[in-house]
Amino acid sequence: MLKLIVAFAAVAASNFAAANRVVCYYDSRSIHREGPGRMIPSDIDPVLSYCTHLIYGYAKIDSHQKIAALDESLDLSSGKDNYRAITALKKRFPQVKFLLSVGGGADLDDADKYNKILEDSSNRAQFVHSVKAFLKRNDFDGLDLSWQLPEIYKKKDRGTFGSIWHGVKKTFGYAHSHKDEKADEHREGFTKLVQDLRKELRDDNLLLTATVLSNVNASMYFEADKLAKEIDQIHLKAFDFKSPQKDPNEADYSAALFPSEQRDPFFTVDGQVRSFIERGFPSNKIILGIPTYAVTWKLTSESKISGVPPIQAEGPGEEGPQTKSPGRLSYAEVCSLIDNPINKGNNKHLLRRVNDPAKKSGSYGFRLPDGDSIEGLWASFTDPDTAGDKAAYAKAKSLGGIAFWDISLDDFRGVCNGVKYPIIHTAKNRLV
Ligand SMILES: *[C@@H]1O[C@H](CO)[C@@H](O)[C@H](O)[C@H]1NC(C)=O
Repeated sequence: MLKLIVAFAAVAASNFAAANRVVCYYDSRSIHREGPGRMIPSDIDPVLSYCTHLIYGYAKIDSHQKIAALDESLDLSSGKDNYRAITALKKRFPQVKFLLSVGGGADLDDADKYNKILEDSSNRAQFVHSVKAFLKRNDFDGLDLSWQLPEIYKKKDRGTFGSIWHGVKKTFGYAHSHKDEKADEHREGFTKLVQDLRKELRDDNLLLTATVLSNVNASMYFEADKLAKEIDQIHLKAFDFKSPQKDPNEADYSAALFPSEQRDPFFTVDGQVRSFIERGFPSNKIILGIPTYAVTWKLTSESKISGVPPIQAEGPGEEGPQTKSPGRLSYAEVCSLIDNPINKGNNKHLLRRVNDPAKKSGSYGFRLPDGDSIEGLWASFTDPDTAGDKAAYAKAKSLGGIAFWDISLDDFRGVCNGVKYPIIHTAKNRLV
């Protein structure tokens, strides 16, 4: 009997360690978009045959240091009951694990509350004790900590991504590099938080994962060797290395796999992955994050005409018609802008596309401004091929898998080439 149990445990463990996890982030705020960019639960179905995990973004921390719904009127049964509409998909996709993520940069009121939980053990206990019941009530299989640790560059304005731009232009951007005076305390507090949560969740077989947000210095806060024992996997948001918020006047590759000339190798996918492995984190628990959206800047008449990055720019590119976020476009939005035979005729303001045969930096597209009528645009984007190259990298490095931010920004209706979720679909196929 004992032998049987041991054998069973070994099989279960080896399944879990298999390097083929596909983690699909779902940003529930996508339900508030208008038109074809609006995602409802039934739109998610086609992607669940590719995903091993679906992570619901996001939950927040309330004023009593407890986990809570970010948007009660959407998430909870007193509103649209979206938590349970999503976890109910388990019935048809029993192989997929459904996790709830807290933070993620979406929890905007009182930016300091995440630090307070790390600094104070009674605050920490409040949070930890609130988690299990909350997950179970909404039928989640685990918790993802997209903890809002202090950022390397701090926003000058605390408004949401969108409202900064709709508001006054001069509040734009990030102040320069920011030093966390309590970094040691935050690092130790984060490790304790993870250890306490693991104890709390273990008996119920609930999963515990963590996500490293872009713009957070992982080597400062993630004690790789200690965390590795406690968490099931870590998701690296290895992108947004360049963005119009950080670098308004210079457009460049936002999520390069390897460095090109004159760039810092640390701010690449490979640099981030290596840093975790060198600090003792097991590679099979590292999940490589891939963006499904483009990062865009506005080009001006001063920008060089070749389009080759780095290139002079002037803040974020125009918002997309569906996503309405300056400096970002969904894959569906960007593919409709690429100069190709299908798009010709529909749209005069197309982007010239430049591919990445060296599989190093990712693709980009651009158009120069033309008088007052056409605004210049430079877009660093992930397409199915570049996502596939990253999946192949994850496989070659024996990583635990890949993760996507997020499913609503992939082409979930299949308008680009008839395939729904072309980025996730292609990348998943390159992983196995
Ligand atoms: C990140 O933190 C490490 C110390 O843990 C420090 O040496 C490094 O300079 C930091 N990097 C950035 C970009 O702030």
